[in-house]
Amino acid sequence: MNDVQPKATIVIFGATGDLAKRKLFPSIYKLYQKGKLAEQFAVVGVARRPHTDESFRHYVKETIEEATKQELIDEKFISHFYYHSLDATNTQSYEQLNELLTRVEEQFHIPGNRIFYLAMAPEFFGTITSHLKSEGLTATNGWTRLVIEKPFGHDLQSAQRLNEEIRQSFSEEQIFRIDHYLGKEMVQNIEVIRFANAIFEPLWNNRFIANIQITSSETLGVEDRGRYYDHSGALRDMVQNHMLQMVALLAMEPPIKLTTDDIRSEKVKVLRALRPMTHDDVETYFVRGQYGRGIVRGQQVVGYREEHSVDPNSNTETFVAGKLMIDNFRWAGVPFYIRTGKRMTEKSTKIVVQFKDVPMNLYYRTSEHVHPNLLVIHIQPDEGITLHLNAKKSGESMKTTPIKLDYCNNCIDGINTPEAYEKLLYDCMRGDATNFTHWDEVAASWSFVDPISEVWANTKAVDFPNYEAGSMGPKKADELLQKDGFHWWPLNGTM
Ligand code: BG6
Repeated sequence: MNDVQPKATIVIFGATGDLAKRKLFPSIYKLYQKGKLAEQFAVVGVARRPHTDESFRHYVKETIEEATKQELIDEKFISHFYYHSLDATNTQSYEQLNELLTRVEEQFHIPGNRIFYLAMAPEFFGTITSHLKSEGLTATNGWTRLVIEKPFGHDLQSAQRLNEEIRQSFSEEQIFRIDHYLGKEMVQNIEVIRFANAIFEPLWNNRFIANIQITSSETLGVEDRGRYYDHSGALRDMVQNHMLQMVALLAMEPPIKLTTDDIRSEKVKVLRALRPMTHDDVETYFVRGQYGRGIVRGQQVVGYREEHSVDPNSNTETFVAGKLMIDNFRWAGVPFYIRTGKRMTEKSTKIVVQFKDVPMNLYYRTSEHVHPNLLVIHIQPDEGITLHLNAKKSGESMKTTPIKLDYCNNCIDGINTPEAYEKLLYDCMRGDATNFTHWDEVAASWSFVDPISEVWANTKAVDFPNYEAGSMGPKKADELLQKDGFHWWPLNGTM
């Protein structure tokens, strides 16, 4: 676990795909540049498409140069890359891959440690993992690990099926399920803010917190992922994983220790304590939206139903807002509001913790507004925390004015926060599974989300499209909070 320069071969299935290109190759390069990878590593790209090692290296070099906007001069780095063209159903093809891996391990003195990274569509997960085992690719002298990307199933049942398939070849300890939000610096900071500060933890409960709001808004539409997205929608794409993971980190009890198992078990308890949605509740607690045409950052954009590979009558949601209740001792009565969507006003992920008002505010009469205390955790694009307090307005006798205490992580010179994927890849190489999702978390999240998707699949949204591209979503999402006497805090500079 503490191996600072892990020695391993990373076998990337889907090596010619988008994820490898945009995230994985640049992350591996950064780890190498920072000295976190010694010379005892190799990357074997695997995909259907034919490539020689040479042409693959050329491709990798180009993708890294494009992503890092630097010229890649390090030929030594690129010589660690190899390629194998694989037919996923052909046994012989795996045998050849195994031969290549053994050769590469000898060459770079890698002690049989292998990461199999499946950066591809989940329908092949079962076939690939079973071949990896049957053809002996997992039987090495070192450790072997499997990294998988979402979507992990479409609902609980399909996720269970997928899990069973994978578990035929890999144990739970060997499986690293990626949720890239868990690799984000400020998501990892949630635990530190909560558990390393005496001033927050005593207040972190239903006696002092009025509500918690989590927004993850995007300006992009579905881009070229229409085919996937139209079958997924925002609920499965963002809520089942990223949003619920943030809820779990915000709501969990302090773990006994900072070990993977202790943290995960506290997170699972939160997910299990989520008040289940009955079909009748969905309408009251959840709002779905789909974007129509509009203007995003000054550009006219098309509506969702006009996007490439999207059904022109699609009923798929591109926006979700919801009110979650956690039925346990700490959180009884405190709503957690979540909101996420595509083609919204800005790209931003923020958590706002709104504290209850003081029991008797002496300044109500003299001040126009007494702002509630807020703790804002800025996840992206800015990273930091802001605490909103009230202070005396200077000069005028007894009036108050809101003030902000700000900490901006990425404003400090020299801090260049690593990409989530860089951190997660490194964690996986060191065997630290804390920031990956355990099967129990995946199952609990699907159990919560399934009734909502069932209702939405069975009732056509008559008002779609119901928000304009470039807006903050449908009006109903605002009403969700208004009913409780709250409102969404704005995401812009004022926060
Ligand atoms: C992915 C979703 O998991 O997260 C995408 O599939 C979404 O649809 C992305 O755009 C958002 O991630 P980030 O890091 O840009 O907030």
